Amino acid sequence: MYSKLNTLLQKPKLYEKTQEKFWNDPHISKGMLETHLNPNTDAASRRPECIERSVNWICSLLPRGAELLDIGCGPGLYAMRLSNRGLCVTGLDFSERSIIYAKEHDNKSKYIWQDYLEMEFENLYDMVTLIWCDYGALIPEDRHNLLDRIYRALKPGGMFLFDVFTPQRNFSREESTSWEVCKHGGFWNPNPYICLNAQYYYSENIRMQRTVIVEDGNIRCFNIWDTSFTKQALSEELQLHKFIPIDYFSDAEGNPFEEGSPTLCAVMKKQEW
Ligand SMILES: C[S@@+](CC[C@H](N)C(=O)[O-])C[C@H]1O[C@@H](n2cnc3c(N)ncnc32)[C@H](O)[C@@H]1O
Repeated sequence: MYSKLNTLLQKPKLYEKTQEKFWNDPHISKGMLETHLNPNTDAASRRPECIERSVNWICSLLPRGAELLDIGCGPGLYAMRLSNRGLCVTGLDFSERSIIYAKEHDNKSKYIWQDYLEMEFENLYDMVTLIWCDYGALIPEDRHNLLDRIYRALKPGGMFLFDVFTPQRNFSREESTSWEVCKHGGFWNPNPYICLNAQYYYSENIRMQRTVIVEDGNIRCFNIWDTSFTKQALSEELQLHKFIPIDYFSDAEGNPFEEGSPTLCAVMKKQEW
């Protein structure tokens, strides 16, 4: 127990992954779903008014009846609205609780419970979306794997729309460690636990938040990576794939790109036949 804990208190290597199922843990996923559905916070999903503006913009880019795949769809807050606006939507997420909720509240969209890093679709969609800066939570190897899969999933001329944080996002940029005793349980566990939090920086644009949960007889660790991108860094990364850039925007609402925006949204196209 001591040596495991001691190892987890050291700064990990760049892009070291943890195996714990963060999004699918029965207790954590319950709290996550509540956070997605809370209209007063942007913590898991953006607030309803932002979602509406995104949906308006996405609908303006596609004809009625177009096939859209929303990966990391959460409880279907976008998918449901996009279906109601006449798109044929498939939502995909590996949180079973979110997919169950989405199916119960939206009978127009199709929902798939799956890891998007393993999806296998060929020439099916007019657009793939990945919304709320999830791209930057992936390590580079997973980002490239995902870009390949998205490219394959799109029809020729189909679009990939996704957002990322930029380095303008207000990080404290100070490494820190702290601990918290949750005597009555909390977000990470229904039972008493001690939570060790660490924030590490690897460069101007790469940070990681590590959460170590110490409970009776068990230690769990979650590394949450957070890579931000300038427009140039993102376009260089995408150039390694066959995507054709359409344009960059400040956010997933289609506002024109401005230097200094805390987010960046890219719209890419698959080559025509
Ligand atoms: C920040 S939330 C955003 C949810 C949704 N896009 C929204 O804005 O309401 C990220 C979502 O991606 C899902 N997710 C993360 N990694 C995934 C993976 N590898 N495969 C499928 N879903 C994933 C999570 O379960 C979560 O629902």
